[in-house]
Amino acid sequence: MLLNKDNLPLVDMDFMNETHFEDVDLLNELFINIEDFEKEASDENFEKLKSKYKDWVNHTVNHFATEEEEMVKRGFFAYPFHKGEHDNNLAEIRAVWDSFEHSKNIEELKNYIEFDVINWLINHIRSMDTVTARFFKTGMSPCGMM
Ligand SMILES: [Fe+2]
Ligand SMILES: [Fe+2]
Repeated sequence: MLLNKDNLPLVDMDFMNETHFEDVDLLNELFINIEDFEKEASDENFEKLKSKYKDWVNHTVNHFATEEEEMVKRGFFAYPFHKGEHDNNLAEIRAVWDSFEHSKNIEELKNYIEFDVINWLINHIRSMDTVTARFFKTGMSPCGMM
């Protein structure tokens, strides 16, 4: 398993935690497809990997859009900053796939998911999502975090 859900930081909003758990499920499934392609670089394994990556991208688009809609609705003060982190992350996720389609370098993709994506997700949840969820719940940001 790539990441155990128990190791994911929790925020003050259940709708956000649920989305993050779904994200981890998808990443764990994607990691299996990556390992399968690493063992056998067949067309079939490539198509399975491609389709799972697409599912994960679509889930991420919805994950970010849902948080952004809520931030706009509630007038969250750091909306442009939080949205900026989402936009950069999505652009990177898409660029990494495009690069993999050309190179078929599975080690590069594996490292990206295993380290960059997991680190980004945990750091993002601990910082932006934590502050945002606290604001949704109380109308305030956690002391000293912003
Ligand atoms: Fe999030
Ligand atoms: Fe976020």
